[in-house]
Amino acid sequence: METKDQYAVYGNPVKHSKSPQIHAAFAEQTGQQLHYRARKIELEHFAEAATKFFSHGGKGLNITVPFKLDAFEFADQLSGRARRAGAVNTLALQEDGSVYGDNTDGIGLVRDIHSNLGWELSGRRILVLGAGGAVRGILGPLLKQRPAHVLVANRTVSKAQSLAKNFESLGHVAGCSYEGLTSGQFDLIINGTSASMRGDLPPLPHHILSNDGCAYDMMYGAEPTPFMRWAAGETAWAVSDGLGMLVEQAAESFCIWRGVRPDTKPVMDLVRQSLS
Ligand code: ATR
Repeated sequence: METKDQYAVYGNPVKHSKSPQIHAAFAEQTGQQLHYRARKIELEHFAEAATKFFSHGGKGLNITVPFKLDAFEFADQLSGRARRAGAVNTLALQEDGSVYGDNTDGIGLVRDIHSNLGWELSGRRILVLGAGGAVRGILGPLLKQRPAHVLVANRTVSKAQSLAKNFESLGHVAGCSYEGLTSGQFDLIINGTSASMRGDLPPLPHHILSNDGCAYDMMYGAEPTPFMRWAAGETAWAVSDGLGMLVEQAAESFCIWRGVRPDTKPVMDLVRQSLS
């Protein structure tokens, strides 16, 4: 019989997920007894698999592509940020047997940018690229940092506009096309498109970043992404990939499950080493 509490990440694909490594490191560091694994779930089978996991005593799940909307539907209760995002990346079994859904992606991004990298968000002019699943989770926590404004650019403009509309009550946010972007307009650009996964770059005009502007790609890998290379060519003041966000969102999930906040810095170093 298993004595350790069971956790997992559900996705498809999930083979390259760093989450098992990250949570094992958190558990070791904090002395928590738990087991965490990655599991590939067939499309259309998310609810069935999650029901089985929790009915067999599983304590918590991370959810990755393409199941964050399914997890949103699955949860019995939702945090405010998950409700606003319409997407869930963390499920936690409650004392009464119900399942709580949260979304830690946005807070993970904000912690990495603000606390780890030391980039200011308040009062800044921010451009977010993409209007898909990855961006839904970050707009609420970003707007809570009181930026001057957030523009969401997308090839399909209507998606950017309707996404921005969902967050209007939290601050100045609007959708736009790539063609509509003009010179020196932004202090920070965050790439939330899936373009980097295919070695691609969104169609960005030159000189849209201010002189001391920063660029952040939510993707990460052993090599700089095409977006990071673009930003360096635009003489960005600082450029980062999304590895820190990955570890910070995991730390927030760990905290929800175990009530303990791990130290993220050594775990970021560990994951970085494993990429090379
Ligand atoms: P995810 O859940 O990873 O966000 P998604 O919901 O399929 O995936 O969204 C992918 C996002 O990346 C979309 O905003 C998409 O733009 P469109 O809605 O216009 O398709 C964007 N995207 C993907 N490849 C891109 C590319 N080569 N250039 C620009 N945007 C791209």
